[in-house]
Amino acid sequence: MKFFIDTANLQQIADAAALGVLDGVTTNPSLMAKEGITAVDEHYKKICALVPGDVSAEVIATDYAGMLREGRHLAALAPNVVVKVPLIADGIRAIRTFTDEGIRTNCTLCFSPVQALVAAKAGATYISPFVGRLDDIGHEGMDLIRQIRAIYDNFPALKTQILGASLRHTTHVLDCALAGCDVVTMPYGVILGLLKHPLTDNGLAQFLADHKKANEKK
Ligand code: E4P
Repeated sequence: MKFFIDTANLQQIADAAALGVLDGVTTNPSLMAKEGITAVDEHYKKICALVPGDVSAEVIATDYAGMLREGRHLAALAPNVVVKVPLIADGIRAIRTFTDEGIRTNCTLCFSPVQALVAAKAGATYISPFVGRLDDIGHEGMDLIRQIRAIYDNFPALKTQILGASLRHTTHVLDCALAGCDVVTMPYGVILGLLKHPLTDNGLAQFLADHKKANEKK
């Protein structure tokens, strides 16, 4: 399962990349705004230089022609750009065209299994089901991941990778792994959370204390 970081913060991306287990980055217009980015192209180029893997850059246009214009421009910024396109009719049409042109895509804002089926038929490289936002409104977000996995497994000709998104905590990551997600994207804090266990910290403290005691006696 690939690990992506869900942020536009360069320091967090660099820190996560330094761990050696980062496979890519997802951004969205809200994450870019949070960092106060106005020179968008330059920022994407910086992110793409930090990680060798895929970097999702989202179009702002919501019409077919506008998405094509923006998506082609974004894809030309760096070889690892994946054009992120919302799951609306014009978006699906744009994904079909991008697929035919060899431009890779991440179909975003997926909230139903049949939306994911359509995105896969259009040739999306990734589908991004938003788990946390479904949980937020009282639905079981992980059910969506499981249903998409089952549908895609029924039809091996569908090559779209499931990118578990809107993950808020480590249990989401665990459940995505158990459900057979191809990729998870998560905030930096969740990546760090994957490493944490109190027994690891306690055990290490004990090992170090014992080592110190034994060596003081020498
Ligand atoms: C995914 O690509 C999105 O950027 C992201 O996961 C959305 O997460 P949120 O629901 O926490 O905003």
